[in-house]
Amino acid sequence: MKTSHTAFLISILLLASFSSLTHGLLLNGLQIGAVRVNGVLFCSLDGNLRGNSPPLSGAIVQLSCAGSQTNLSQALTNPAGAFVVLVRILDTILFDPSSCFVRVNLPVATCSVFPPDGALTASINLVNIVQTAILDIANFTTGPFVSSVL
Ligand SMILES: *[C@@H]1O[C@H](CO)[C@@H](O)[C@H](O)[C@H]1NC(C)=O
Ligand SMILES: *[C@@H]1O[C@H](CO)[C@@H](O)[C@H](O)[C@H]1NC(C)=O
Repeated sequence: MKTSHTAFLISILLLASFSSLTHGLLLNGLQIGAVRVNGVLFCSLDGNLRGNSPPLSGAIVQLSCAGSQTNLSQALTNPAGAFVVLVRILDTILFDPSSCFVRVNLPVATCSVFPPDGALTASINLVNIVQTAILDIANFTTGPFVSSVL
């Protein structure tokens, strides 16, 4: 069971990397039209839920990929600290999820316990693929935030 799960994940990664040679992003044989990244940001030392740290509202969260330092898309956290960053994947963009991460640039005026500079970053992990009539959306969630000098 564990082995087949691993093999499945590896084949997703292989498909994603092969497809990026010619297409935007191919997952499970589906041409992905958009990527959605869900997460929650808290006002704590590292942005994760620590004890009863409050959610952080109104913070800018960007989606970035290594290689292109520029952000691909950004979103604001809602009063519950939740964010959804959405980006359309065009054929001409090489989108490799393993090199992408969400980023909160520091400082954030509304959370004084964050580190004073650098950024908080979190990796993104595929949850599922949501098929709609218009396009297939790869639905990601964030891993834990870590402090970064990026
Ligand atoms: C990040 O990218 C989005 C989408 O292209 C853009 O709307 C936003 O202004 C950018 N943010 C910054 C800080 O450059
Ligand atoms: C997308 O992923 C989130 C977890 O980050 C999950 O709660 C949500 O149900 C998923 N959306 C769909 C439409 O499956």
